[in-house]
Amino acid sequence: MSVISTRIQGDVLVVTADNPPVNALGAAVRQGLMDAMRQAASDDAVKAVVIRCDGRTFFAGADITEFGKPPVSPSLPEVIDAIENCPKPVVAAIHGTALGGGLEVALGCHYRVAVPSAKLGLPEVKLGILPGAGGTQRLPRVVGVEAALPMIVTGDPVPAKKAKAMGLLDALVEDEAGLEDAAIAFAQDVAGRSEHPVSSRRSDRIADTPPSAFDDFRKANARRLKGFEAPEACIQAVEAAVSQPYEEGIKTERVLFQKFVTGTQSKALRHVFFAERAAQKIDDLPKDIEILPIRKVGIIGAGTMGGGIAMNFLSAGIPVTMVEMKQDALDRGMGIIRRNYDNTAKKGRITQQQVDTAMSNLTGSLDYADLADCDLVIEAVFELMDIKKQVFGKLDSIMKPGAILATNTSYLNVNEIAASTGRPEWVIGLHFFSPANVMRLLEIVRGDRTAPQVLATAMKLARTIGKVAVVSGVCHGFIGNRMLAARQKQANALLMEGAKPHQIDQVLLDFGFPMGPFQMADLAGLDLGWKEEESKGETIRDVLCERGRRGQKTGKGFYDYDEKRNRTPSDEVNAIVAGFAAKSGKAQRDIGDDEIRERLLFPMVNEGALILEEGIAQRASDIDMVWLNGYGWPAYTGGPMFWADIVGLSTVVAGLERHGDAMPDLTISSLLKDKAAKGERFNG
Ligand code: 3HC
Ligand code: NAI
Repeated sequence: MSVISTRIQGDVLVVTADNPPVNALGAAVRQGLMDAMRQAASDDAVKAVVIRCDGRTFFAGADITEFGKPPVSPSLPEVIDAIENCPKPVVAAIHGTALGGGLEVALGCHYRVAVPSAKLGLPEVKLGILPGAGGTQRLPRVVGVEAALPMIVTGDPVPAKKAKAMGLLDALVEDEAGLEDAAIAFAQDVAGRSEHPVSSRRSDRIADTPPSAFDDFRKANARRLKGFEAPEACIQAVEAAVSQPYEEGIKTERVLFQKFVTGTQSKALRHVFFAERAAQKIDDLPKDIEILPIRKVGIIGAGTMGGGIAMNFLSAGIPVTMVEMKQDALDRGMGIIRRNYDNTAKKGRITQQQVDTAMSNLTGSLDYADLADCDLVIEAVFELMDIKKQVFGKLDSIMKPGAILATNTSYLNVNEIAASTGRPEWVIGLHFFSPANVMRLLEIVRGDRTAPQVLATAMKLARTIGKVAVVSGVCHGFIGNRMLAARQKQANALLMEGAKPHQIDQVLLDFGFPMGPFQMADLAGLDLGWKEEESKGETIRDVLCERGRRGQKTGKGFYDYDEKRNRTPSDEVNAIVAGFAAKSGKAQRDIGDDEIRERLLFPMVNEGALILEEGIAQRASDIDMVWLNGYGWPAYTGGPMFWADIVGLSTVVAGLERHGDAMPDLTISSLLKDKAAKGERFNG
């Protein structure tokens, strides 16, 4: 069957695309659309055209897999010009998502109708590019610069109702099943008109754009867009739509598009797009595996993590029972959940009704027996193996058969926890990140005996609660914290050797991390897990805590803080560190930024390679997903493993060898060495 088919209903040519899964605008689709436009122009019986899609969505954009390959004509801009120049009016009938090239096709149409559940957007910027088929020139002409800029520069789609209000849609079709008929009726209706709106020829909506609009937008979004190159190109292209005639503006768009589509950031962001989808796939699970229903969730421990984890399920409409040891801990935990919801409602992000519904689904208890009928229980008690074992022993005796028993442990051995039950197949790690209601990452830790359905159910559940799930095998710290430890070890060593906390942090900030390790330590509190009565002043942390330098909360830690929490380097800290260095017989020296960067990041890549080698991660891109979604690794570098590919694996190995004396107990992964020697990459 052809990906584009046509039929004539009355005097309307109905053009239907069927290119699963998302009707991407690959070469065959473009050719089919071109042929359909020729048919429409040449057939006198045709008075109007409807373009629609079968399947789950209107065109979701250009076919991303074609990027970087030789172009195949007709190009998308040519197809869209043909649609716009069709002598008969063309109506786009939109359901699902009209994204990127898909929205550009719709903008080439003279009219657009959509169902209320549809979403329209130009997400190209998220792939490190800009709309390249006229989107930056036509959208502002149709909706004005103020509405077009955020859509193009942030890439976030707008819902159909909003699109209608901004003039992007001509009509909403309430009856979703009747979209095709309604679009045909609409086409028949407009067929008799003498003139039809042509997006590229409009100027009414951009005529009165204030000159400051672009700089104001740059300023307002500077933080969000920092480090990314494509957003600025998007802004420049929209500026061109206002300052240049269409024919010139479209050339500006083309030049920028060609430049960015071959750039490193775009390659990295495309890698991220496919990596996110690849992470959902577990190679050894059968496709038709049974997914267990999760209708009720139990959570043990209402502390920092328990509360955040609970909110994920409550927000998805799944009832939660939370169990604590003492009433005051339970009350505190439940109170924090309510406050978090209330604050979100105050900011207008959810309604009071949603707060009430979520809270009515939350039950607190001091009795484990109340968990008996849960389909899944997640343990989030203190990070101590003995306590975890006790908890799982108790759960084993209480939970119904077929319930999933999960631990949120950060480091501990999930196999050992599973062995404390008589049903290790039902035990799994669900490692959330703090704040658990916000962070997108969920590491799903597959124990040696975890049953396939349990794993598949956890993956599905992650999607339900809006998390990006990555499967990890069992090892100390799993994928994320194990690599973090490799970085932290070097940060501490560099400090002793003479690098200053602000210098180390700044190297990571410059790389694109939101925060460095010492800022992070100050934020979390240096006294986390530190006991005053046991402190012997033996470590830098001991001395900092003893001197009241416990982090932001005490106004000083590795840095000094003013009342607005602005940080400045501290001479006292430098002196304390120098004292420890002298005691250990180490001469401090000036250390350059390049060495700091290499010593922080190359050992992480090495640890990632070991993780791959040991089969802890399924694929290199899964490791990238962990660091992008859980630890703030900048997306435009693609994650640690993709970044290493770009830097060159032989460069990484050479760097590790060069710094070998300073990292005596680091073993270079044989996988890394092997790939470097063969000139291979981690990702493809
Ligand atoms: N090109 C190629 N493949 C695509 C694709 C695209 N534009 N969009 C999605 N796919 C693939 C996915 O890789 C996935 O493949 P897999 O099954 O082998 O893993 C499959 O289609 C299904 O995708 P999702 O799992 O993402 O399906 P969802 O239903 O969750 O989401 C969607 C659907 C919202 C359309 C989402 O896929 C999406 O956001 N797609 C990308 C949209 C986009 O970025 N469009 C702009 C492209 S660039 C462009 O148009 C340039 C132009 O201006 C010239
Ligand atoms: P927390 O100390 O804030 O909360 C633990 C809660 O568990 C306390 O309220 C305590 O009263 C309760 N508790 C202890 N034993 C119990 C028992 N036997 N029965 C019922 N309740 C019990 O600890 P936090 O930070 O929430 O950590 C919990 C787990 O999550 C740990 O395993 C930790 O390693 C892990 N984790 C923590 C992260 C963090 O950033 N805090 C991130 C990811 C995982």
